[in-house]
Amino acid sequence: MDRSLALELARVTEAAALACGRWVGRGDKIAADEAATGAMRQALGLMDIEGTVVIGEGEMDEAPMLYIGERLGSGRGPAVDIAVDPLEGTSLCAKGKSGAIATIALAPAGGFLHAPDMYMEKLIVGPAGHGCIDIDAPVGDNLRRLARAKQCQLGDLTVVLLDRPRHEAIISAIRQCGARILLISDGDVAPAVATGIIGSGVDLVIGTGGAPEGVLAAAAIKCLGGDMQARLVFTTDEERQRAPQMGISDLTRVYGVEDLAGGDVFFAATGVTSGALLKGVRYFAGGAETDTLVMRSKSRTLRFIRSLHTFEHKPGF
Ligand code: FBP
Repeated sequence: MDRSLALELARVTEAAALACGRWVGRGDKIAADEAATGAMRQALGLMDIEGTVVIGEGEMDEAPMLYIGERLGSGRGPAVDIAVDPLEGTSLCAKGKSGAIATIALAPAGGFLHAPDMYMEKLIVGPAGHGCIDIDAPVGDNLRRLARAKQCQLGDLTVVLLDRPRHEAIISAIRQCGARILLISDGDVAPAVATGIIGSGVDLVIGTGGAPEGVLAAAAIKCLGGDMQARLVFTTDEERQRAPQMGISDLTRVYGVEDLAGGDVFFAATGVTSGALLKGVRYFAGGAETDTLVMRSKSRTLRFIRSLHTFEHKPGF
């Protein structure tokens, strides 16, 4: 795939962030998500790709835009899978809390796992922890191996988890080891990306979150050279029955990075509200400033792009 697609993706996530940035703290997560989704879809439509949404806003009958299976792009470029979360952390945005991002990933057609909208167990580390993780091992074993690989003490490690009752046992196991914990209320993609960024202060992400978000995290982790293991969590009979239709035959399968995001993968994210990874949208008279991270797995180059947008020349914002 043409490497200049990476910069095109920055435009796409910037458009989504600028659109939902107006909704930060206004208490309406649906309006914020709709604004981000509409802007992202419009920007994607301008790209020279033959894209199919694989991870999107829902099934065709649930989501009017960026639904799974929607075809996007001019049709003149490469055939690609598109994974989107126009506003990852809708509640974070609605409450003005840190860590909301607009994010997208591309893979060659067939590259992304068609993850249903259900839960996924995730274990994610940056490049230093590559090869150290085992989703079936106790969390303490994973932490000890990671501390050895990073040549640090267990107490130096910071683990990020969603603050959910389902994580109580993991939280107490981590505390027994003496590692530090950051509990987040939402948005597990941004900390997953942060594991691969030196100085972010995040060493490991563990726990159960959304499966679509898991595919986006895998795309980012692949670009960063980190490691990830994941397993779908089936909570209802309906989910179990639908699995074969989604191409899932082994319900207990452990997925690695390549299974979730195969081929030459691109990833981009723009901050909506400020977090450990990116600053949020900042407005000024007649414009706004955004921070975006763009990466490509083939080159592993990370680009942090600070953009100044002038609304006079950018109608709609
Ligand atoms: P939104 O869909 O509102 O953006 O929420 C995203 C999220 O917090 C993900 O980051 C996370 O993987 C998932 O929801 C967790 O789901 P739950 O809130 O059901 O625990």
